[in-house]
Amino acid sequence: MGWQPRPPAPGSVSVRRVELDDVVTKRRMTRGYSDDPVPAEVLDRVLGTALHAPSAGFSQGIDLLVLEGPAETGQFFEMTSDPEFLAGPGALQGLIRAPVIVLPLGDPDAYVARYSEADKAHSSLAGLAAGDWPVPYWLVDSSFAVMLLLLAATNEGLGALFFHLHRDPRPLLAVLGVPEAKQVIGAIALGYESSGPTDAAGPAGSPTRRARRPMLDVVHRGRW
Ligand SMILES: Cc1cc2nc3c(=O)[nH]c(=O)nc-3n(C[C@H](O)[C@H](O)[C@H](O)COP(=O)(O)O)c2cc1C
Repeated sequence: MGWQPRPPAPGSVSVRRVELDDVVTKRRMTRGYSDDPVPAEVLDRVLGTALHAPSAGFSQGIDLLVLEGPAETGQFFEMTSDPEFLAGPGALQGLIRAPVIVLPLGDPDAYVARYSEADKAHSSLAGLAAGDWPVPYWLVDSSFAVMLLLLAATNEGLGALFFHLHRDPRPLLAVLGVPEAKQVIGAIALGYESSGPTDAAGPAGSPTRRARRPMLDVVHRGRW
């Protein structure tokens, strides 16, 4: 018999689904932050949620590098952003005020090692060098962790943005003592939303210019 869903605990289902729906539909990328710090216990809960992300073979090869406060986030922006962006005043100046930056660090070696263990001997990934993986699971797992972070942030009343790094992050990672093999898919800004004069403009919200694809277009049942 194939996989069967577990029967729900009586009385628990509707409440849980409503909470998840709320967080999923409320979440939006936030590009303007106040410089209010994020309380340690709130940040810990958000980071803790990311630890529940699935990982291939339960490799858990994702680390989170957390930069807090103007000295650490300032160095981050200085070393990874385009000079024009930093020179401002640009549309994303409100992003620079974000009090927390999180860098997800995926470790290809952790996955290669995990899939070389005895219980993975029959996997098609067993013994593959990182460069030969058809899907780099350390990047997939980084994405899952990021998604949970974004949802957890919304759940805590925080704004969050996943964004790409303009410049090669390796010099910054070297300064911060990160082992060389780690790979970064982007950065997450976290903090409380503000709507200062420079915060509303910019690439804020492609969804304001593009329609969400309807389910009938996206979901292909049985065949394309
Ligand atoms: C892989 C990826 C890269 C992104 N990079 C940026 C970025 O560099 N700058 C930015 O402002 N938004 C970035 N975004 C945010 C998207 O523009 C945003 O998620 C999308 O427009 C949908 O809006 P919403 O997340 O607010 O619903 C990125 C999102 C993803 C998933």
